[in-house]
Amino acid sequence: MPAPAEPAIESLLAFWADAGVDAMLLDQPFDRIEAGKVAPPVRATAPASAPVRAASPQPDISAAVAEAQARAAAATDLESLVAAIAAFEGCPLRFEGAATQAVVYRGDPKAPLMVIGEAPGADEDAAGQPFVGRSGKLLDRMFAAAGLEGRVLISNTVFWRPPGNRTPTPLEQAVCAPFLERLIALVAPRMLLLVGAPSTKAMLKRDEGILSLRGRWFEWRSADGALELPALPTLHPAFLLRQPGAKKRAWSDLLTLTERLDRPERPL
Ligand code: URA
Repeated sequence: MPAPAEPAIESLLAFWADAGVDAMLLDQPFDRIEAGKVAPPVRATAPASAPVRAASPQPDISAAVAEAQARAAAATDLESLVAAIAAFEGCPLRFEGAATQAVVYRGDPKAPLMVIGEAPGADEDAAGQPFVGRSGKLLDRMFAAAGLEGRVLISNTVFWRPPGNRTPTPLEQAVCAPFLERLIALVAPRMLLLVGAPSTKAMLKRDEGILSLRGRWFEWRSADGALELPALPTLHPAFLLRQPGAKKRAWSDLLTLTERLDRPERPL
């Protein structure tokens, strides 16, 4: 049985992660108290003779990105885009976390609003559709309450489930980006809703935490500058499930969104 303190700790860590504090977590839990290895206090200055450690080199993803761009550009409709993504082997996630299939989109192919989440989870991997688990059900209820039912198309920054539901890396997101941009071009929505910190960071290339970016309009631009759309960051539904007190902020973001979506467009 879990110790009573665990949900509170988990919730606090999730709160920090959603707020953009993601560098303090190791891939695997490490119990320093159990191991008796409490880290020594950090020295104010390193000794002069200390060797300078080189940053670990980033893998070269240029070939995978070029292939994704070529495959994406050749897709002329959503069906061929989904097939192109399914055939693409350049994203390592495909061979790591995904048990079954690529998860590309669900919703209205002509939706005025496109929602971009972080990454598929276990439920999405099994169903082949984004946001079908607990988070997705909450998202659907929020959209229905805001009058957005049937007016959205939902996708993610990556199309395969990361192992253990970890956050996708910027490199994995960069490899998938040409397909996501092609999806946006083919759907041609009027605006984007970016749910959660990893989606917001990947799409807007901004480093501030989601709590300061949410509810504010930004301009999203495609890599080639050909597409520009208003984009609104908001809190991820998984965060709202853990921190129900934050729901009022997400609701306020949805009202901001629908106000603009339903505003009559000015004639040119
Ligand atoms: N969380 C996401 O960000 N996307 C999904 O598809 C499911 C859960």
